[in-house]
Amino acid sequence: MDPVEEAKKRQHSILRQVQGELLKNLGKAPTLAPYTPTPQGILDKVLEFAHVGQGDVVYDIGCGDGRLLCSAAEKFGTKGLGWDIEPAAIEDARKLIASKAGVLGHLVEVRCEDITKPEIVAGVDWQAVTVVVMYLSIQGNLTMRPIVLKNVKKGTRVVTVQFGMGDWQPKEKCIVPYEGHHKDSAGIPLFYYEVDDEAQNYRDTDERELREWTMKVSAS
Ligand SMILES: C[S@@+](CC[C@H](N)C(=O)[O-])C[C@H]1O[C@@H](n2cnc3c(N)ncnc32)[C@H](O)[C@@H]1O
Repeated sequence: MDPVEEAKKRQHSILRQVQGELLKNLGKAPTLAPYTPTPQGILDKVLEFAHVGQGDVVYDIGCGDGRLLCSAAEKFGTKGLGWDIEPAAIEDARKLIASKAGVLGHLVEVRCEDITKPEIVAGVDWQAVTVVVMYLSIQGNLTMRPIVLKNVKKGTRVVTVQFGMGDWQPKEKCIVPYEGHHKDSAGIPLFYYEVDDEAQNYRDTDERELREWTMKVSAS
């Protein structure tokens, strides 16, 4: 078989397995995505694509080792807050923050919490954020979509990595070339959204929509 076709088949089979697991746990699992750290080159593009600059407050939903928040704080002096459900990821993030304490001061904070839990959502200062970044799964994005749209202020920018927000169309989309990604794809897609009045039409994600989009991505 053509090696590209073979790689494509393998990639789809892995994706189907992952999506199958996510689907089994739909509505129950707190896990929005497995831990896959974003390479630095992609992070820089994410910050650029989100127009992150001085004065921004960045939230990273599923922050992993906190590299995006630290990068933004180092480059632009932005405040950052991240959540991750994985204690090991948060431990790494705290180490990274501590190793850069001289530069970052108290700009970056991470919390080991499940950001889908209503009591956690209720404790977040959503009015402070200006840029939300999410590198999750399609299911993860659709789970977070109503939480983000119901809470952030108008004008907040949202960038998602790899997967989009279902039928909420991005204002911009780009593909960051990345060789280490799948052999048969040009790179990693980034999606840029702005929370405006029109976005409020996508506040509610129901289970049917979650299933539809999850299946659509698995089949693509
Ligand atoms: C694909 S990784 C992205 C990591 C990081 N943002 C980066 O770009 O390097 C997704 C992260 O989301 C975290 N996560 C999954 N479900 C979560 C939840 N319910 N609450 C908080 N974090 C979650 C995972 O543990 C994982 O670290």
